[in-house]
Amino acid sequence: MSASSSRFLSSSMRKAIAAAAFVSLLLAAPVWSFPWDIDMYRGASVQPLATAPRVMPEGTLPSSGGELSMSRDEMTVSEHAPSPATPEDLAKGKELFATDCAPCHGDNGKGDGSVAHLLRTKPTDLISGTSKDRSDGYIYGTIRDGGTAMPSLSDAMSEHERWQVVMFVRSLQHAAVANK
Ligand code: HEC
Repeated sequence: MSASSSRFLSSSMRKAIAAAAFVSLLLAAPVWSFPWDIDMYRGASVQPLATAPRVMPEGTLPSSGGELSMSRDEMTVSEHAPSPATPEDLAKGKELFATDCAPCHGDNGKGDGSVAHLLRTKPTDLISGTSKDRSDGYIYGTIRDGGTAMPSLSDAMSEHERWQVVMFVRSLQHAAVANK
């Protein structure tokens, strides 16, 4: 035994004290934390969403200029292209359609795009069947929100550009009817 450690306590005594200190720390942790540590939680604070967020009057537009939050179903019955299609709208719509839609729906919207064969759910033929009778709002809502299998393209274009694509899809449909 060295001189310094034997001066006050034996080595086994020191071990016993260390062990006792350790055990009392272990015991202290739960005793210390219960039940005082949840005082803040149980206080009179307002819990998240305990009161409903302010409900906006219907039809309120966000001041940041965003668009109305409407589901595709709501848009289907109430929304139409905001202005008649100009040649510029159709040209821009055609350009956007070629990059964002044609890979799946085909250049002429017939559902025969270059990647269509890779998709489990085939892209709809937008020119015939029920699709040609869809409202402007439905097509717009589909571009923004996607469909059951179609991805949402909300990030790909602005509100105005989406309407330009709708106008172009309409022009494809009209051309198909005229060519019959
Ligand atoms: C990744 C492939 C893909 C792209 C890109 C895509 N679509 Fe689709 N689209 C689909 C598929 C698949 C369906 C059918 C299933 C569904 O409704 O989700 C569909 C359905 C639709 C429908 C619904 C037709 C109906 O009668 O119900 C419309 C309208 C439509 N697409 C328009 C567009 C337009 C416009 C674009 C470009 C802005 C576009 N899609 C881009 C795959 C695509």
